[in-house]
Amino acid sequence: MFYSAIRKVFFKIDPETIHEWTIKTFKATGATPLNHLYKQTVVNKPVDVMGINFPNPVGLAAGLDKNGECINAFDAMGFGFVEVGTVTPRPQPGNEKPRIFRLPEANAIINRMGFNNHGVDYLVEQVKSANFRGVLGINIGKNKDTPDENAKDDYIHCMRKVYNFASYITVNISSPNTPGLRSLQYGEALNELLASLKSEQANLAEQYEKYVPIAVKIAPDLSAEEVSSIAECLIANNIDGVIATNTTLAREQVAHLPFGNEQGGLSGKPVQQQSTKVIKLLAKALDNKLPIIGVGGIDCAADAQEKIAAGASLVQVYTGFIYQGPKLIKEIVAAL
Ligand SMILES: Cc1cc2nc3c(=O)[nH]c(=O)nc-3n(C[C@H](O)[C@H](O)[C@H](O)COP(=O)(O)O)c2cc1C
Repeated sequence: MFYSAIRKVFFKIDPETIHEWTIKTFKATGATPLNHLYKQTVVNKPVDVMGINFPNPVGLAAGLDKNGECINAFDAMGFGFVEVGTVTPRPQPGNEKPRIFRLPEANAIINRMGFNNHGVDYLVEQVKSANFRGVLGINIGKNKDTPDENAKDDYIHCMRKVYNFASYITVNISSPNTPGLRSLQYGEALNELLASLKSEQANLAEQYEKYVPIAVKIAPDLSAEEVSSIAECLIANNIDGVIATNTTLAREQVAHLPFGNEQGGLSGKPVQQQSTKVIKLLAKALDNKLPIIGVGGIDCAADAQEKIAAGASLVQVYTGFIYQGPKLIKEIVAAL
C-alpha cells in the first residue's frame, strides 16, 4: 500500500532522475536511524552456495547500485545478498540519455545504460566505508573503449582490485549495451577468458589467504546448443557459479507498447520465461557441478519458486523490486 503510493509519484518522474535521487537518499540514510523508512525484518533462511553462507536466498541483482553506494540500505531491507556493479577499470559516462524506459503495461524496463560508473577504485572505497558484514557480490566488466582483444585485461584489473572486498565476483559477459561484450560467451574467447580469471583467482587466493568464488553472468538470448557449450566451458574451467540471466534483446512481447522498440536490454516479466528456460537447460547440462543463481522477471514468491524448481539455488531481483518495492524480498523469503 505504502510503496504503491510512492511508486505512483516516482513513475511520474523521468526514470533516471528518480533513480539518481533514490541512490542519493539510500546512500545518505543507509547506515543511519533514517533507514527505518525502509528497514524490515526478514526471516532467516540460511543456505550454503559456492562455499558461502547466505542468510536468505534472495539477492539484489547487479546494475541498480553500480558504484556500491547503497549497500547498507539494501542490507536494511533484508536482502540475503547484494550484488554491486557492473564496474569497469576506468570511470565512464555510459550511453547518451535518455537510456532507461519504463514499460508499466508489461511490468518491464528497457535500458541501454552502457556501464555508466565511477570506476573500480571509487567502488572499492564505497565498499570499504560500508563496513558491510553480509554477502557482497561485485560484478565486473570492461570499458567501452577497451578493444575486444584486450577485454581480459579489464576483467583481471577489476578482479585484482575487488578481490579482497567481495564475497564472490561476477564476470559480466552478457550486457547487450557494450558492443562486442556478448561475443565473450562463445568458444575459445570464453575459454581463454575463464582460464585467465581462474589462474588469477589462484594467485589472489594465495596472496589474501582466502578463496573468493567466481560466477559468470550469461544472457537469455542463447540457443540450447550455446547454453550447453557454455556449461561445458564453465565446468572445464572450474568456475564456481553461473548467473542466469541478464536482459534480453527480444521484443515480441513489448513491440506494441510505448517505448517497446527502444534499443537496449529488456527486463522484468517479458524475460521471465526465457530466463527460466535457460536455467533449466543449464541445470541439465551442469548436472549439479556448479550452482545457478536465477534472475529474470521475478516479481512474486511463485516466480522465485519457479526459478528454484528450474534448478536455481539462489535468486536475484531488479525490475520486480522496482515495481513491487522492498516487501517483495520479505514475501519471497517467507515463501521459499
Ligand atoms: C536499469 C538496469 C541496469 C542494469 N545494469 C546491469 C549491470 O550493470 N550489470 C549486470 O550484470 N546486469 C545489469 N542489469 C540486469 C539485471 O541485473 C538482471 O539480470 C535483469 O534485469 C533481469 O532481471 P529482472 O527481470 O529482475 O530485472 C540491469 C538491469 C536494469 C533494468
